[in-house]
Amino acid sequence: APALTPIQQEILALKRERNAVILAHNYQIEAIQQVADYVGDSLGLAYQAQASKADAILFCGVHFMAETAKIVNPTRTVLLPDLDAGCSLSDSCPADRLAAYKAANPNVYVVAYINCSAAVKALCDVICTSGNAVKIVNQIPADREILFVPDQNLGQWVAQKTGRKMRLWPGSCYAHVQFTVKALEKVRAKFPHAPVVAHPECVQAVRDLADEVCSTELMVKFAKEQTAKEIIVITESGMLHRLQREVPDKTFIAGPTDTCACNDCRFMKMNTIEKVRDALKNMTPQIELPADIRSAALIPLQRMLDWSK
Ligand code: 13P
Ligand code: SF4
Repeated sequence: APALTPIQQEILALKRERNAVILAHNYQIEAIQQVADYVGDSLGLAYQAQASKADAILFCGVHFMAETAKIVNPTRTVLLPDLDAGCSLSDSCPADRLAAYKAANPNVYVVAYINCSAAVKALCDVICTSGNAVKIVNQIPADREILFVPDQNLGQWVAQKTGRKMRLWPGSCYAHVQFTVKALEKVRAKFPHAPVVAHPECVQAVRDLADEVCSTELMVKFAKEQTAKEIIVITESGMLHRLQREVPDKTFIAGPTDTCACNDCRFMKMNTIEKVRDALKNMTPQIELPADIRSAALIPLQRMLDWSK
């Protein structure tokens, strides 16, 4: 393991002092991943948050992920290093617009990708992540008409995998839609033997060129199974830190966009090592949720955790 910097050592000391646990998403910067107790995808992080017995959960990810931790484990203090770390996908489905849609279409069965606010979760029947979306949708009664929010790309992929017809909310991840066929073909020409793994938030034309489409956690499994030495990874570039640590004998090539050699999510990258230290030092900023929203959001989230086992 690499030697820790003074600030990283300070974080580990504060973590013990506060009886805190650090949960980090795969897209966080390497220095944060190195001090985390657990690094994973949205699904793994939700299970970890629910099971945590620590006094405080310092969540290194974006706002909806920290909110999810608070919903499933409300008696813990949940800290997010920067409250402005949002998500363009989550923002594409405001709760008032979903409520209006439901009022006009009262019979739809609403499946929400976990990348949405607690207020949106509170309006839904079941939640899914990219890691379990197919499994969740397959358990929805066949006679129900499904509305999938907020990601039209993940929704389209799940519809194709399950054969279920679904209405799709017109949202998308600003970062993942920047991957294009043109950029992917260029990198493939450079590494012709490298298999391609892509996140389902990518557009269909990009997904269709990939050897595997899956959640960030399943990318680790995919990488371990490959015989090829080089793998092209079409997702946010923080993922490469996790892959390189767990599969050190392979080389990972970040998926490029038309304008950049790799692709960062500006929200995920709002968390810095200094903000992580300050959050533990000051025990702020904390995630607070109105009790009615929390208890309404827990129903579809708990359904997901149960159906996903
Ligand atoms: P995963 O659950 O696959 O890690 O995805 C989270 C996310 O925000 C993708 O952009
Ligand atoms: Fe949201 Fe996209 Fe960033 Fe994931 S990568 S947190 S979906 S904006």
